[in-house]
Amino acid sequence: MKIQFLGHACFYITTKGRNILVDPFISGNDQASSVKMDELKPDYILLTHAHQDHVLDAEDLAKKHQAQIISNHEIATYYGDKGLDTHGMNTGGTYGFDFGKVTCVVAHHSSVFDDGTYGGNPNGYIIDDGQKRLYIAGDTALTYDMKLIPEFYGAVDVAILPVGDNFTMDYKAAAKAADFVQCKEIIGCHYDTFPPIKIDHQQVQKYFEEQGLNLLLADIGATKEY
Ligand code: NI
Ligand code: MN
Repeated sequence: MKIQFLGHACFYITTKGRNILVDPFISGNDQASSVKMDELKPDYILLTHAHQDHVLDAEDLAKKHQAQIISNHEIATYYGDKGLDTHGMNTGGTYGFDFGKVTCVVAHHSSVFDDGTYGGNPNGYIIDDGQKRLYIAGDTALTYDMKLIPEFYGAVDVAILPVGDNFTMDYKAAAKAADFVQCKEIIGCHYDTFPPIKIDHQQVQKYFEEQGLNLLLADIGATKEY
């Protein structure tokens, strides 16, 4: 499984010959100006919730590449009404796609589109491609529900966790979340994009090291294979 960081909470995941774009917020992110949108060829677009910093480029990219949007029922309906291919799910549900199984898990946050349309409950996702189990927390607070993930679905190999505070959990809570999902390989997201979520990289890295955790604060555009 290859995971490329495209800024904020946006990731481009390649596995089983499929490209899955998560929470595309590229054209509106000054820090992601080096990302070449033309080079992205998503087969699927996975959305955690309806906030603009997660869905901004979803419609355009889905249209351009006939990508299927995977999200909760309300978000899937919103894009389905625009004529896009969608697969609606809801919290607790698992569905087998051609790249692996996707499970919707609890995220404590909110979810509304910029035009005021209700965006349903926010979700995190577990992607299990048969080799690696990836947990994408989405925008969320630390929640005890995270403990159910390893207990029921198995320990997580890689976890994408927000660390920026203010809108989501902070880095100390993220380290606790990593403990809850029994994962030592963490990719940080949802930091530095806006002034209230700026983090001190050294301080955050040091804290994770002290907890025996491996935190990647990736450069935008960087890819890592798991
Ligand atoms: Ni949000
Ligand atoms: Mn957000």
